[in-house]
Amino acid sequence: MTSECFVYIALPGETEFVTAGRFQRTLDRHGVATGRFVYGKNYLGRENAVPIDPLELKLGTKTYATGLLNGVFGALRDASPDHWGRRVIERHFGSPGPDEMDYLLHSPDDRAGALGFGLNKEPPAPKRKFNRTLDLAKLQEFVDAIIADEELPTGTDAEQAQELMLEGTSMGGARPKAVVEDNGALWIAKFNRPDDKWNQAKVERAMLELARTCGLQTAESKLTTIGDRDALLVKRFDRQGTKTGYRRARMLSALTLLRSEDTHQNRSKWSYVLLAEEIRRISSQPKVDAPELFMRMCFNALITNNDDHPRNHAVIAMDEEWRLSPAYDLIPAMPISVEERFLALSCGDEGRLASASNLLSQCARFLIKPDEAEDVINNMERTVKDQWYAICRREGVTEKDCETIKPAFAYEGFRLPVAAAQAAN
Ligand SMILES: Nc1ncnc2c1ncn2[C@@H]1O[C@H](COP(=O)(O)OP(=O)(O)O)[C@@H](O)[C@H]1O
Ligand SMILES: [Mg+2]
Repeated sequence: MTSECFVYIALPGETEFVTAGRFQRTLDRHGVATGRFVYGKNYLGRENAVPIDPLELKLGTKTYATGLLNGVFGALRDASPDHWGRRVIERHFGSPGPDEMDYLLHSPDDRAGALGFGLNKEPPAPKRKFNRTLDLAKLQEFVDAIIADEELPTGTDAEQAQELMLEGTSMGGARPKAVVEDNGALWIAKFNRPDDKWNQAKVERAMLELARTCGLQTAESKLTTIGDRDALLVKRFDRQGTKTGYRRARMLSALTLLRSEDTHQNRSKWSYVLLAEEIRRISSQPKVDAPELFMRMCFNALITNNDDHPRNHAVIAMDEEWRLSPAYDLIPAMPISVEERFLALSCGDEGRLASASNLLSQCARFLIKPDEAEDVINNMERTVKDQWYAICRREGVTEKDCETIKPAFAYEGFRLPVAAAQAAN
């Protein structure tokens, strides 16, 4: 069985799509998927053509093939919906459920990055209609119904809200979200869930602020309320408003850069050290971006963010040049152990162990000298210890929630030598 679609791209400086190439996905008799991609001749003839993925899909007439990610090239998969968006599309689709191609085709125009997909050789005109922040209350109703697996609200208003909800599905991630327009910019609205253990919107906002205080480049954010509920608005760094519409940055996740998958078999490729090497290859400013990645790794260790998986790191290119994206999705986890904690990606000689000595062990690969790396860690540890509480309270995190998340910060085992940490467990 073969299905295919055209891949569109908004070129640097442009707000409208052009056709970049054709993507084909074939399932053999055993259900094994192969994806193929070829750039269009007209596209290759453009002076300003850019590759969709400068490492894996270089400009040229070659037909590329992949068996990874269920036959969908990482660069395309990064533009298609993730857990949350897939769930919304499945609800919309009914039975039989959507396949990989359907997810690509049914995710709307506002997807992450600069790509679009469709069945026509010519791209559609860009949609100019976006959710307004005013629509958030309607969207929250849908979020609640989807989470509770309840009947979706009905009526004309509800149909309109469902349309609006679908608009937000193309952004990745597992938490409920929608894309809204506010003040001439696009924002990702991240909703709280009834089953959250603490006020996620406020805590995430506080972590972005704490990260910024530690010197990290972070996505811009602000809190908003919908009725009596909080939501976090995170400004999209892959969009830039202009008079004629939005410019779009190309975007690749670390999962794509590491040529990896979400599965456990692939976790050996999940590594900050390998990611640093890929960032040194792709970034136009490796001496800035590799150390910045080092700082993010240290920050995640110091706030026990073990949801730092490869879809929570990305590179973007608003123009020709690729850079590490601002940091996003920074959340402390409910820690299990005092002595020993692990990140999602390997960070040094001792694998995923989130300890100072392990973080330091491969610092040269992040283009930082050992004494500088030690300073980074010492300063950051002090800032996290001294400021997490004040910043959380300033952002409205309750005393009770602070008490719950307290063990996440600058934990004891961070300074234990590896052998001691292992013996203590
Ligand atoms: N500020 C942003 N600008 C552009 N894309 C973003 C931004 N923040 C997140 N994304 C993209 O949206 C996805 C989901 O956002 P994320 O904050 O990770 O949500 P979740 O908490 O559900 O994982 C990310 O994996 C990333 O691809
Ligand atoms: Mg995420």
